[in-house]
This record gives sequence, structure tokens and C-alpha cells, in this order.
Amino acid sequence: MTRSEELMEMEHHYGAHNYHPLPVVLSKGEGPFVWDVEGKRYFDFLSAYSAVNQGHCHPKIVKALCDQAQTLTLTSRAFYNDTLGPYEKYITEYFGYDKVLPMNTGAEADETALKLARRWGYRVKGIPENEAIIICCDGNFHGRTISIVSMSNDPDSYGQFGPFTPGFIRIPYNDSKALEEVLEKHGKNVAAFLVEPIQGEAGVFVPDEGYLKTCYNTCKKHNVLFIADEVQTGIARTGKLLAVDHEGVRPDIIILGKALSGGVIPVSAVLADNEVMLTIGPGEHGSTFGGFCLAGKVAIAALEVVKEEKLAEKAEYLGKVFREEIGKVKSEMIELVRGKGLLNAIVIRPKNGKEAWDVCLKMRDMGVLAKPTHGHIIRFAPPLIITEEQLREAIEIIKKAIISFE
Ligand SMILES: Cc1ncc(COP(=O)(O)O)c(C=O)c1O
Repeated sequence: MTRSEELMEMEHHYGAHNYHPLPVVLSKGEGPFVWDVEGKRYFDFLSAYSAVNQGHCHPKIVKALCDQAQTLTLTSRAFYNDTLGPYEKYITEYFGYDKVLPMNTGAEADETALKLARRWGYRVKGIPENEAIIICCDGNFHGRTISIVSMSNDPDSYGQFGPFTPGFIRIPYNDSKALEEVLEKHGKNVAAFLVEPIQGEAGVFVPDEGYLKTCYNTCKKHNVLFIADEVQTGIARTGKLLAVDHEGVRPDIIILGKALSGGVIPVSAVLADNEVMLTIGPGEHGSTFGGFCLAGKVAIAALEVVKEEKLAEKAEYLGKVFREEIGKVKSEMIELVRGKGLLNAIVIRPKNGKEAWDVCLKMRDMGVLAKPTHGHIIRFAPPLIITEEQLREAIEIIKKAIISFE
């Protein structure tokens, strides 16, 4: 048995089977690269689902982590500390909101946004208690908690996990008329509309231009909060700091996670103005680690890197290079290439019994790591610090891998 086989077997034996990883065992990362335990180097084109936008082990972020880890890691919110305030000031000024509520994972931040929306619905909008509705979209992915999977229409997510949390209405994605209709009917009791500006997990579905702006305006007409889940699309991934920036929309609540720490530790956050944020008081929400000392320092460093290294501008430009180059490939297996910035997907048409999984195995053999989502879609999301030369090298590998099935 090779060391890789031994480690895969160990995971299979001792770990829950809630993932189906590509067979590759990684032990080191630097910038856009990862290495397996046998020392082979790969381009990482998943970036931990867009958590590693700043590149693996970014020296500035790792230094912030190590320095703080030797000073003070966690005090809990039972006391004040000297890192939380400066972090809250930094992130709220960075994104232009009155306040932040710090959490750890994306799912927790989504849950936080749902609670804030309901509270605002009762306290500010005047919805009768226990009647608040939150509108979500078909194909959504907001995480894995019971309430969140209650919004899902993906049987893998919700199947046999009921009974579910009530209070959600799901409408088609990329259909602003559907939102208008549901708000005409239920608007009085609707607290919020929750949407991913691009649906990442569903397979990088980019809505029509103007969709977000129209939905935002419809929400305003009905006094409904517009919540953007930017856990995957935020922090420069799509070529702007936030994906909603492409349409000049300022959501009432923004949900961030993943790249907020550059993939170093779990850090998530919910941003909103006082009217929304101050509806939750002491003892009504929180988390032991939310906003802990390491998180504050790491997140500031991670956000500084985004600006200093112009990652949004890079993602915008390199994304165009990616789609243009892949668009030139002549292969029956490529049904469609879509995306924004460096969040892209190729929809694979199976050929001779070969599918997206086989293409990913081939790319792995040739030195690029990516993973299918929903069977036939391969997402391509390299770290945003990748250089144009490195990207072009990886694109050549991707092209050759796909063409090898012709
Ligand atoms: C849009 C979106 N929201 C929420 C989440 C959940 O984040 P986490 O896995 O950190 O709970 C994800 C994860 O992929 C996501 O893509």
C-alpha cells in the first residue's frame, strides 16, 4: 500500500462517509499549488470551495495567525478583548455597514441572518409573531443545518432529515417576476428574500444581468430585507469585492465566510445596519468562538491581502482569459462554459461512458485538481493570486485532459 492508499483507507474506516473525495491525499500547499504525500504538485482549482482566494498558506495571513496564537487565542464574549473592536471597525468600514455579527462557519452566518430577518420582521416591520416568511430560491445552497436544509430542494440535502423548519417559501432562481408575485400575495408577512448572487454549489449558475437589482427594488417596494449570501461569491472571487457590486446593489444583510480568513481558520460574519442588527440583544444569539482573537487578526490580514494584491481586478481579468481559452476547445464533451471572474464551470456532456468524474481523474493525473458538482458540472475556482502564466499553464492541462477523451 502506498502512503496515499493507507491514508484514504484510514479516513474511510474511521470517518463518517459524508464526503466522496477525489482520490488524492494532500499534505502541503503554497499559493495556487498543493502537493500530495508522494510529493506530486498540482494546481488547486477548487480553493477549498473558494475559501483559499488569497492562496494556500499566505505568509501575511499565517503570520497574523501565529503572532496572535502566541499572545491570546480565545477569551469568549464574556469579557472584552483588544482584538474584537479593531476587527469590527475594520470590517464594517471595509464593506460599508454599521455593524458586524461575527460567527465561524458559513451555515452559522446564514442562520444568524435568518434570525436577524425574523427579529426585524417582528420588531420593525410589525409582522404578527411566528408568522414571518423568508423567501429563498430553487437550487439554493446555504449550508447543512436543519433550518437551512429546510429551504433546499436538493434531495441529498434534505432527504430524511425532516421534520423541517417552517416559514420558508421557495421560488425559481433568476426569475424576478416570481419574487414580485409572491410578494404581491404574501408581502405583508415576508421579512426577507435570501439569495446567492451566483449559485455556486448548484453548478455556478449566473443569473441574467439586472436580476439582483430588480429583486432588490421589488424587496424595497414591499418593505422586505434583501439578504445576499456571499459566502462563496464574496471577497473578490467573481471579479468584484462582492458579487452584488456587479449590479450596484447594497443588500440589507450580507453573509460572508470562507475567504474571510483566507482558508486559515473558520471565520464568518453577518453585516447589517443598526436598524436590523440592533434587534438582537445580549443573550439572544452568539457563539463561543464567534469573533475570537485569532479570527479578528486573521480576517484583517486576509482582507488587507485582497486589496493589496488587487485580487478582485485579477479575478475579473483572469476569468475572461479562462472562459475565452476554454471556449476555444473543440470537444463534444464541453456542453457549456459559464461563470464570472474566477468562479467558472464547464458543463460536461458524457461521452463513451466517460463523465465529469473521469475528466477530473484525468486532470488530477496531469496536475490540476477540480471536482464535479451535481455529477456533470466541473467547477473551476483557482486561488486568485494565481499568475496569468500559471493560469495559462493550467488551462493547457485542462484542455489536454478534455481532448484526451475525443
Ligand atoms: C453560498 C454558501 N452559503 C453557505 C455555505 C456554507 O458554508 P459552511 O460550509 O462554512 O457552513 C456555503 C458552502 O459552500 C455556500 O457556498
